[in-house]
Amino acid sequence: MDGPSRGADVVAVLPAAGSGTRLGAAEPKAFVPLAGVPLLVRAVDGLLASDVVDHVVVAVPSELVDRALGLLSGRPVSVIAGGGDRTASVAAGLAATGPDAEVVLVHDAARPLTPVDVVRRVVAAVRAGAPAVIPVLPVADTVKRVDPNGVVTDTVDRSALRAVQTPQAFRAADLRRAYAGIPDPATDDAGLVEAIGDPVATVPGDPLAFKVTTAWDLRIAELLLAGAVLEEMSGRTV
Ligand code: C5P
Repeated sequence: MDGPSRGADVVAVLPAAGSGTRLGAAEPKAFVPLAGVPLLVRAVDGLLASDVVDHVVVAVPSELVDRALGLLSGRPVSVIAGGGDRTASVAAGLAATGPDAEVVLVHDAARPLTPVDVVRRVVAAVRAGAPAVIPVLPVADTVKRVDPNGVVTDTVDRSALRAVQTPQAFRAADLRRAYAGIPDPATDDAGLVEAIGDPVATVPGDPLAFKVTTAWDLRIAELLLAGAVLEEMSGRTV
């Protein structure tokens, strides 16, 4: 599939090249079906349904590029081979975003139920002037630090802690600066932007933007979708 067309000014990069070992599925996580639709297809369709994303660059394992192209046909996407870790996959995706991208989003394929409002919030905040924006949620549980033997060393003040989700949104030039050279592997992209000294703003995340990591998460996602269908059938607003 072609790269972003001219004028594609908000482009999302979707790293979907992980093996998903913790899910224990027979195929890479992004290709695992959730109520019949692969996670990466749900993630791409969620981004496009926001109406604020022009194009999506999807990074998948190299042997699955053709399969992903088939699954995503008819959508404004490019599919490329990802790298050995998430950071390498995002770097490859970023290189394929095209010269017209003003705003770049990075979104995990593993967050298939992310509401469109979260996508709209991060894009709006970058358009309002923030170089980098991440969706966050307060931490509900008490958090403790433990030593290698599992013995508690201290209790962390959770009032200043936030759990971080995706999509994360960036001014394209700032994300490209953060990815210049070969960055150390990071668990999120805002971490690389922090490392070059740029401020990172936050907007409210959403519990539905949770990441599917284990078989339990996949089951919860299935139950949420089944519940939404039942509510639609009974005429209630989902
Ligand atoms: O493993 P984890 O769930 O933290 O991965 C987050 C996202 O990064 C997933 O969507 C996964 O497919 C992606 N990833 C990738 N390339 C890798 C490893 C992970 O695109 N080599």
